[in-house]
Amino acid sequence: MLIAIPDVLTRDAALALRERIAGAEWVDGNVTSGSGAATAKRNRQLPEESPATQAAQAEVSAALMGNAAFLSAALPHSVFPPLFNRYGGGEEFGLHVDNAIRFHSGSGARIRTDLSCTLFLTDPEDYDGGELEIESNFGTQRIKLPAGHAVLYPSTSLHRVTPVTRGERISCFFWLQSLVSDHAAREILYDLDQSVQRLSGERGKGDAEVLRLTAIYHNLVRRWSQA
Ligand code: NI
Repeated sequence: MLIAIPDVLTRDAALALRERIAGAEWVDGNVTSGSGAATAKRNRQLPEESPATQAAQAEVSAALMGNAAFLSAALPHSVFPPLFNRYGGGEEFGLHVDNAIRFHSGSGARIRTDLSCTLFLTDPEDYDGGELEIESNFGTQRIKLPAGHAVLYPSTSLHRVTPVTRGERISCFFWLQSLVSDHAAREILYDLDQSVQRLSGERGKGDAEVLRLTAIYHNLVRRWSQA
């Protein structure tokens, strides 16, 4: 399931972040590639250890952890520190699948990639091409969201970034391990949580049926999660 998460950052905050990192030093994007990906990848990336990256990571991480829609959809267990990439004229990332396991050299952490996320830091009208294309059972989904919006998608899917033909696409991207590794189970929990939130807004949290559904939600999380 692909889930768009609007306003992870406000548009102004996203564009300000873009502005701050745009002037930093960028390196070849193949520094984080898996062995199968390197040939298909032509872009640039902010080095993980640079101060610009660390400040930007802190801002994005705080925004993610305060975003109810992200938390409900992802049920994050461990989030890989967000990275930043840019695609200028002709740059692209060919069709690939993300590595199943990611090591974070800074912390020594190791995560299983259940979900991949792209947080857009450039408005769609400011570049042509640069679409995130994700293969799904419903065909290829083409994603290009406003600055500050994010898309979450299963790391199991084949995906690519099409060549940029005008302007420049700067984005944040990261992987996460979910408390619920099974995509179908996580999707059921997301749907249930959305309905519980809506019903609880209409009837109040103390309503008997809202309480029962809330208990069902938590009991399913207990059954299906690996904390
Ligand atoms: Ni990828």
